[in-house]
Amino acid sequence: MSLDRRSFLQGLGAGAVAALAGCTTAAGARPASLPDFGRVEPEAFWRAVRAQFPLRDDPVYLNTGGLGPASRPVLDRVFAVTMELQAGSEHGHDRFAAAREAMADFLGATPDELCFTRNATEGNSIIAAGLDLRAGDEVIFESHAHPGGSFPWANQARQRGIKVLLFEPDHESPEGNVARIRELLSPRTKVIQVSHVTCTTGLVFDLPAVAALAREHGVWFHVDAAQSVGMIPVNLGASGCDSFAFSGHKWLGGPHETGMLYLRRDRLEAVAPTGIGAYSGELPELTGTIELFAAASRHEYGTRNVAQVLGLVEAARLHTQIGPERVAARGRELAGWLLTELARIEGITVLTPQADELRASMTTIRHPRAEGGRLFGYLWQEHGLRCRPVTEQGLNALRISTHIFNSPAECERVVAAVRASVRDL
Ligand SMILES: Cc1ncc(COP(=O)(O)O)c(C=O)c1O
Repeated sequence: MSLDRRSFLQGLGAGAVAALAGCTTAAGARPASLPDFGRVEPEAFWRAVRAQFPLRDDPVYLNTGGLGPASRPVLDRVFAVTMELQAGSEHGHDRFAAAREAMADFLGATPDELCFTRNATEGNSIIAAGLDLRAGDEVIFESHAHPGGSFPWANQARQRGIKVLLFEPDHESPEGNVARIRELLSPRTKVIQVSHVTCTTGLVFDLPAVAALAREHGVWFHVDAAQSVGMIPVNLGASGCDSFAFSGHKWLGGPHETGMLYLRRDRLEAVAPTGIGAYSGELPELTGTIELFAAASRHEYGTRNVAQVLGLVEAARLHTQIGPERVAARGRELAGWLLTELARIEGITVLTPQADELRASMTTIRHPRAEGGRLFGYLWQEHGLRCRPVTEQGLNALRISTHIFNSPAECERVVAAVRASVRDL
């Protein structure tokens, strides 16, 4: 499917028909099951996907990069497991093993490489605090890092005297990014971190290329993947990274406060746990030495919300049913169309990279006069569009996330509203 202008307008018509036919999900209604892709018209398929989400139609939700809505199957699973466990007042920790296996399958990892966390920040923090770093050791990451990716290192700078070196992401080519990291390498470099997809302009880093550079220099490679899992296909084994932290509650549509940390099996011992307790290992006698489990799950401890974790597994199941490639292609086509059309509006600057290999499902623009926060407020209040201002690095811009529940018609609305903003603001 190519989302040229004509098919976009067709999508608009179909969307209106669907709305009249009552196909949009009211909160609480149980969605029909998903048809097989290819057995129905593509837009009918995507409307059926949209119907899985009890997300309000108004305002139009375009902030999956901030927080992704969960689908009805995910919420049902969380509710059902919660009720079942609460009925016997059980924690249900025995269900972690199957959940870990399912997530390992989904991510191209092995179960012993995965740890359930509360969010991406927690995974980033485990790595930053757990690696053996001394005063003067250097960590390199991009200047567009989110606080969830940068603060854990800033904390290590404060506590252990490590040095943070920043590079400006290259919006022209993946090779440019590798070159910029290479320029900062020194004998003191211990860690390279990138956001898989930056939260600012939606730039996608080429993980295998950065991994090759890190390996060449014997440097740890960590990925802050808060923005990628559920947006673009991920295969951890093939990525080449040593560790990888992501959020379940963004593009994957998992329950709030879900995430995972991947720790490559042969790198397990390099990360000292910062928090441990029951479920991290064994200590038969209190005065003995604790034997940590030989798995990334050693970073888990204490009573957990198993229903949330099983909700995350359900989100991965729905994602797999739709198809990770198809999900990525949909978000990218909507974003690509936006990118082209918004760039045509006089005065609007598109900050998202143009190159296909550097972009995915987020589009960031700057208004000629209105700062990002003002444009954000205008689009929300005047046009019912929920985007997100980009304040990081003084970018003063606006980010639009397009995911599987968004439609061509909604993108048409964005373009019309941004056009109006140039007149109004
Ligand atoms: C690149 C990046 N890292 C980390 C985070 C923080 O994610 P979480 O709230 O799941 O810890 C975000 C959130 O937007 C992000 O975009």
